[in-house]
Amino acid sequence: METVVSGIRPTGNLHLGNYFGALRNFISMQNEHNCYFFIADYHSLTTHPTPQDLHGNVRQILVEYLAAGLDPEKATLYVQSDVPEVSELYLFLNMNAYIGELERCTSFKDKIRQQQNNINAGLLTYPTLMAADILIHRATKVPVGKDQEQHLEMTRTFGNRFNRMYNVEYFPEPQAFNFGQELVKIPGLNGSGKMGKSEGEGNAIFLADEPEDIRKKVMKAVTDAGPTEPNQAKTEAIQNIFQLMKVVSAPETYDFFNEKYNTCQIRYGDMKKQLAVDMIQFTTPFRERIKAISSDEAYVSKVARMGKEKAQENAAKTIREVREIIGFKAF
Ligand code: TRP
Repeated sequence: METVVSGIRPTGNLHLGNYFGALRNFISMQNEHNCYFFIADYHSLTTHPTPQDLHGNVRQILVEYLAAGLDPEKATLYVQSDVPEVSELYLFLNMNAYIGELERCTSFKDKIRQQQNNINAGLLTYPTLMAADILIHRATKVPVGKDQEQHLEMTRTFGNRFNRMYNVEYFPEPQAFNFGQELVKIPGLNGSGKMGKSEGEGNAIFLADEPEDIRKKVMKAVTDAGPTEPNQAKTEAIQNIFQLMKVVSAPETYDFFNEKYNTCQIRYGDMKKQLAVDMIQFTTPFRERIKAISSDEAYVSKVARMGKEKAQENAAKTIREVREIIGFKAF
C-alpha cells in the first residue's frame, strides 16, 4: 500500500477536465491506498493574497470532492491550513533550499512574468511548501500532471538533501503516480487546447453548472465551416467537440455524427444540441449531490474536522521526529 498525497488550489470550481484528469482516479485510489487529498489554501495566497471568500472557495472544493465520490471514511480529506505542522516543515525545508534552484524553477519563471507587481517570497518557495505537503506524510506516490513534475523532482531533492545532511533515511522518495491509459484528455469549448477555467469565459463545463448554462456554452462552442470532401481530417475545434461527445454521449450517438461528418452531411448545430443534452445528463447527478451536500452544514463541518484530525495526527508525528533529527530539544 502506498501513501498518496495530492493537493488542489481553491481558485475555482471543478470542471469536467478536473474530473476526468485526476478526480476519477482519486476515487479508485482511495480504495487501495492510504490517500491524503487536501485543499492547498496556503498555496493560493501566492497568487491570490486577498481572496474575496477564501473559506467559501475551500468549502466549495470540499463539497465537490465529496459530490464526485471521494469518501472521507476511506481517504483523508483536509484543508492545508488546518494542519499548520505543514508550515513548520516548510520552514525547515526552506533553510536547506537554495535561491538558485528555486529561481530556476519553470513555474516561478512563469509566475514572475504573469504577476510582475507581486513577485513575493511565497512564489519563490512554492516548491518547498509543496515538498512539505508531500513529505509531511512521508508519501511515496503523488498523482501529478506533467506541469507538476519539476515540483515533484524538487521534492525528491529536498527530501534526499534532508536525509543526507542529518545522516538519516527518513523521507522516502515520492514518485509520480502514473495513470497511464486512465488519463482522458478533456478539451475546452473555445476551439483549441484543454479545458481550463483560465482559458476564457465559456471554455469549461463545471460540475456545478446549471443546465441552461451548459446548453449556452455548448451551443457557442467553436466549430469550422464544415467538411467539403468525404473522410476529411478534422480541425482541432471539431476533434474537440467529438472528444467531448465521446466522454459524455452513447457510442451510437458518437458514431452517428461521425458518419454524418465523414459523408459531409453534418450540421454542427444538431450535433451541439445533442451534446448539450448528453452533457446535462452526465453532470446532473454531480450538480444535485453538490447542492445536497452543500446545504448540509453539519456534514461538511464534520468531514473537515475529521480530515483535520487524521491529517494532523500523522503530521504531528513527522514534525516530532524531524525536530528530534535536527536536534531541537525541550527544556
Ligand atoms: N502545485 C499543485 C498544483 O498547482 C497543487 C499542490 C500543492 C500539490 N501541494 C501539492 C499537488 C502536493 C500535489 C501534492 O496543481
